[in-house]
Amino acid sequence: MQRVFAIVVAIAMAGSLTFFVFARRQHHDPSTAEDFAHQQAPIPVMWPAPDFSFPAHDGTTVSKTSLSGKPYIANFIFTTCRTVCPLLTAKMVRLQRDLPGADLQFVSFSVDPGNDTVARLFAYQQKWNADEKRWRLLETTEPGLEALAKGFRITAQRTDGGIDAVMHSAVFVLVDGQGIVRGAFDSEDPADFKKLLEKTRALLGNTNAPPQRAERSGEVLFHELSCANCHESNELAPPLGGLIGQRRQLETSLLVTADEAYVKESILAPDAKRVAGFPLRMPSYAGLLTETELNALSVYVSMLPAPAAVAPGTVEVDPVCHMKVRVTESALRLESDGGVTYFCSAWCRDRFKENPDAYRR
Ligand code: HEC
Repeated sequence: MQRVFAIVVAIAMAGSLTFFVFARRQHHDPSTAEDFAHQQAPIPVMWPAPDFSFPAHDGTTVSKTSLSGKPYIANFIFTTCRTVCPLLTAKMVRLQRDLPGADLQFVSFSVDPGNDTVARLFAYQQKWNADEKRWRLLETTEPGLEALAKGFRITAQRTDGGIDAVMHSAVFVLVDGQGIVRGAFDSEDPADFKKLLEKTRALLGNTNAPPQRAERSGEVLFHELSCANCHESNELAPPLGGLIGQRRQLETSLLVTADEAYVKESILAPDAKRVAGFPLRMPSYAGLLTETELNALSVYVSMLPAPAAVAPGTVEVDPVCHMKVRVTESALRLESDGGVTYFCSAWCRDRFKENPDAYRR
């Protein structure tokens, strides 16, 4: 018993030394009549968002005051993250598509101060959703981030190596025009994520019905939903070119042969058949596409040409460090209109991605 207590104390102390807290769902006890009334209200009034003021990717300064007047949805990411952030950003982009209209703002706070400069955040925003004027990505500082984490009740902590440098919450926070937090939603839980959409629409005074819009072609959808951002290099997700007819090993060790039904299922329920070997999860696009759009998108994906592959066993030169790279199935690569470029490491690939022209021969 004493030992258990000692462990609990040790954990509590460790917790207070860092600002490491896992994404906490906010269910506080309704201790006063006022609290109780809020709990019953369709969109609970939670707590005031923290004060902050940070430079944004577009050269502006974004603060609690500058955002006031219109609601915003905030999340927490960093640009070099390879596990959860591409998924979080894909969800952020999805929300931006789902919630058009000028009365809403989107903010992504970087949890990697010092590394995520305004220039890096700008490149990241351009890559994911360049047309979106309502979305701003903010460069933070160590103390600024610490205050932010406390104020939004989220986690952000540097790790000692591993795939990613920072471990952080996957929550999306909804803040109203008065700067009050109205919900913290776990983006990994589809039901909670759906609630975020509904509560935001309710806060904006709209109905919960998705907006009316013309049906989009497979090609437009592929770009609008930033599919290529994860699928462009086989480090994050399997390249999609020439997929139909290929055999895939699933996490369950089963082997499947990709056909159009498999492509559709991957888009709607990606976790049903997860391809082995990728730490990142793919977001589900269920509920976002009409039947015709889903067909158009899966046809488009099924027709993507296989990359003009260099014969396996050949040796290519990494354009960044000039090391020789043996071409194998798992070799790090980037595919573009100009062909396939191979890299010795993710570091070289990321340098190349930031400024390909600097390394072109
Ligand atoms: C956040 C990153 C991400 C985004 C965005 C994304 N995917 Fe994926 N996708 C993955 C990962 C990771 C896998 C492999 C794991 C799995 O099967 O879930 C995958 C698997 C797939 C597969 C199965 C591929 C195979 O080789 O068997 C298809 C098809 C697919 N995605 C299509 C799409 C389409 C279409 C879009 C855009 C609407 C999209 N993906 C957006 C990460 C992503």
